[in-house]
Amino acid sequence: MNVADSELVAGIMEQEGYQRTLSVTEADVIFLNTCAVREHAEEKIHSRFGVLKKLKSEKPDLLMGILGCMAQHMKNEFLENKTYIDFVLGPDSYRRIPEMLYRQKEQRDSFVDTRLSRYELYDHLFPSRKVGINAWVSIMRGCDKFCTFCIVPFTRGRERSRSVEGIVEEVTKAVEDGFVEITLLGQNVNSYRYGNVRFPELLNTVAQIPGILRVRFISPHPQEVDDDLLFVIRDRASICKSIHLPLQAGADRILKRMNRTYTQVRYLSIVDRIRQLIPDCSISTDIITGFPGETRDEFEETLNVMEIVRFDSAFTFKYSPRPGTKAAEYTDQVPEEEKQNRLEELITLQRKHTLTNNLREVGKIVEVLVEKESKKSQLMWAGRTDSNKWVIFPKGYANIKDMVNVTITAASGVTLLGRLTKNLEYADEIV
Ligand code: 5AD
Ligand code: SF4
Repeated sequence: MNVADSELVAGIMEQEGYQRTLSVTEADVIFLNTCAVREHAEEKIHSRFGVLKKLKSEKPDLLMGILGCMAQHMKNEFLENKTYIDFVLGPDSYRRIPEMLYRQKEQRDSFVDTRLSRYELYDHLFPSRKVGINAWVSIMRGCDKFCTFCIVPFTRGRERSRSVEGIVEEVTKAVEDGFVEITLLGQNVNSYRYGNVRFPELLNTVAQIPGILRVRFISPHPQEVDDDLLFVIRDRASICKSIHLPLQAGADRILKRMNRTYTQVRYLSIVDRIRQLIPDCSISTDIITGFPGETRDEFEETLNVMEIVRFDSAFTFKYSPRPGTKAAEYTDQVPEEEKQNRLEELITLQRKHTLTNNLREVGKIVEVLVEKESKKSQLMWAGRTDSNKWVIFPKGYANIKDMVNVTITAASGVTLLGRLTKNLEYADEIV
């Protein structure tokens, strides 16, 4: 979401006559687009402040701004303690950037706008994207779910959905600009509502825009994954057979305390339904260890769900108390060491599952979208399967943005190795 927002801000700046620079020492304006979802993300920003402060002392005309979720929830700290920062803008205030730049030329005082809006969708503003394969397209903003661990509903405000026309216009432009993969983005994509249009209909519409090779989306909330959505994924060739389904925890008591609104049984029944309707669909997840009050037995429930589902990949986090959220107030916080041990256990199990699932791919022929040169060798391409697995293979005749057939020859950790295969019926034909 922040990558998408940064592209939006770059688009606004370019309209104002600015250009991107890769070097901070050359810049006239520096924005830090921040994330507040976990303490670790905030720490990274704090460690950048030292560098910024030095730059500012060397070049007093330099303008420096904090954007995003941290700006939203830490504006007082910035104003009081970081006086070298010129502006603090929350995630709904980017339209005010031109006004702010203009004002800064007139009078050098700090500019702050962290008001949240019920309407801001940045419709009709076009992001400036880096050349590449994938274009992020935000379809809704904000979140009304209020999971008790999560700061997003406070920093990004209420749910609101962009118009179908606005989304189609942006996707069409991205395709014209050479992007072949579209990822629809939202804190909660399946809360999308625009008139009578819900997320499955929107996805179906986007998937039919000419020139798109692949459509992905993140993230749905498990509670709202229904047959309508699964049918669209199954029936449209351009929609990737891959679903990110954040579990967060396995035990019902913890899920309830997290306000996740589903039980373990319900979550597993959604997974069953996905596999019934779309047998090749990969499933990835997010899991938090050491949520307040989580006992060892309850943590084992999480491992148990992992054993049943065998996720293709998992983003795993230690619980991080976020000021202002309900869970941060709970008095039964789990000790740091315990959170860490559980995290490590979870990572080890997930590695095992990722490898077992990947080994199952060996011998299959899969479609791969060529995305970039492999970091390991100039002679190899790296691309993804529609189930979101990375495959490395010798370049042969293929070019970036080609969709090619690859026979999987080996699996190492999270990556698959393969070789180009010209024809699905003659798997052994090597090109
Ligand atoms: N502590 C740890 N992980 C968190 N996430 C969100 N808030 C927290 C928190 N306070 C994780 C969730 C979410 C992902 C984006 O970040 O797993 O799905
Ligand atoms: Fe946060 Fe829950 Fe909303 Fe996801 S659904 S953004 S975890 S409050």
